[in-house]
Amino acid sequence: MGSVFLKMYKMKVRGVASLKGRVNTQGAKNAALPIMASCLLLKGQKMILDNVPNLQDIDTMTDLLRAMGVSVSRDKGTMTFDVPEDVSCEAPEHLVRKMRASSLVLGPLVARYGRAVVSMPGGCSIGSRPIDLHLKGLVKMGAKIEMRNGFVHASAKRLRGCRIYLDFPSVGATENLMMAAAFATGETIIENTAREPEIDNLATVLRGMGVKVDAEGAGCVRIRGVGETQDCRERVIPDRIEACTYILAGVMTGGEVTVDDVVPEHIDALLAKLEEAGVSFSVLPTAGNGAGYSVAVYPNITKKLRPISIKTMPFPGFPTDMQPLIVAALTKSSGVSLVEENLFQARFLYAGELNRMGADIDIKNNTAVIRGVNSLDGAVVAATDLRAGAALILAGLASEGESSVENMEYVFRGYENIDAKLRAIGADVALEAADQS
Ligand code: UD1
Repeated sequence: MGSVFLKMYKMKVRGVASLKGRVNTQGAKNAALPIMASCLLLKGQKMILDNVPNLQDIDTMTDLLRAMGVSVSRDKGTMTFDVPEDVSCEAPEHLVRKMRASSLVLGPLVARYGRAVVSMPGGCSIGSRPIDLHLKGLVKMGAKIEMRNGFVHASAKRLRGCRIYLDFPSVGATENLMMAAAFATGETIIENTAREPEIDNLATVLRGMGVKVDAEGAGCVRIRGVGETQDCRERVIPDRIEACTYILAGVMTGGEVTVDDVVPEHIDALLAKLEEAGVSFSVLPTAGNGAGYSVAVYPNITKKLRPISIKTMPFPGFPTDMQPLIVAALTKSSGVSLVEENLFQARFLYAGELNRMGADIDIKNNTAVIRGVNSLDGAVVAATDLRAGAALILAGLASEGESSVENMEYVFRGYENIDAKLRAIGADVALEAADQS
């Protein structure tokens, strides 16, 4: 899988061509990762997962599961997880450090094997990301948690169902606790849960394993634990953040781009804001066995986006993962836009890079003040995280001249074949090995 991930890459982007054509959405990284971790609930059983994207983070989760003894194979987008009767309950530190989502093995391991040792995920470039809510929930279910030398040691004879109120609707905590509850005794009611579509995808998988899960998207999940599980098969939902990246690539280049395999209600927050900004687009039913809808964006008659205000919020609010992408789009709006970040405190590190390309962005506390400019200029810029990297590529596509986006390793964590997909809709982009001096 993906030797491209082993080297350092930069992307050369030559701007201003209007993009035109169709692009298909990949499976959602953030849905696939917790579902992959959930296979640890299956003792001596098998999980088949369809529509899994080919990404570096998926490789990291694969390495983690293999290190624990799970046999993992891949045939195009379909992955098979054969889980032995016994697995190692220790998550190797170097893999947890590489990807925070590795901590998602905690819930299923304690639930099924009564023990887990996982190193504390460190800080990352978008800000500190504790797992206190995950641990608090596990303690409520009867787990004993000890922190020793940077590792979380969790143990429990058998977790017990209970009522858990999350202080914040954390996506990861909701997922970890749902998986823990799947093998607990009795019923667990988790309140103030995350309502992201990825939660529903995990709920469907747990149901496929035989667990009774009642998650109606209203911020409350009820789970009745089971004593035995069964083989299961499920499809990963389309990646709403990736879909929005290509929608915005069309918008920013004044092009005509259709993005297939989209669930419209997953991206309502962006569509509502695009409407407010004056973008013309339509949501169309499509044939095929994907999500059944496509979104087409058309060239903007007024040429420039109208300025808008956005606040990032948990779903169904505007996603923090789309924040850098919309900021890139607003750099060329016809006025002053305000974008407030409410989830991660250090998520504007990329603004300085956009300013190197001629954008006019000021960061005031947790708000980006974006004054629209007439044009952007190509420049050498560096990704500071995954979505920041995608935002810089979008800006490069809408710039005059050539840009070079460095640290593409971040982008490979979440975008499958981004260079080929962009070229297929007319972009002039190329991956190049970066100098490693
Ligand atoms: C997931 C997504 C990530 C997205 C984020 C918010 C995956 C693999 N990643 O991350 O792309 O940006 O949701 O939509 O699905 N928090 C605590 N204590 C905790 C847990 C979280 O204080 O125990 C805080 C975090 O610091 C952050 C906020 O809650 O400020 C949201 O985090 P959370 O929803 O947990 O995000 P992740 O699951 O890490």
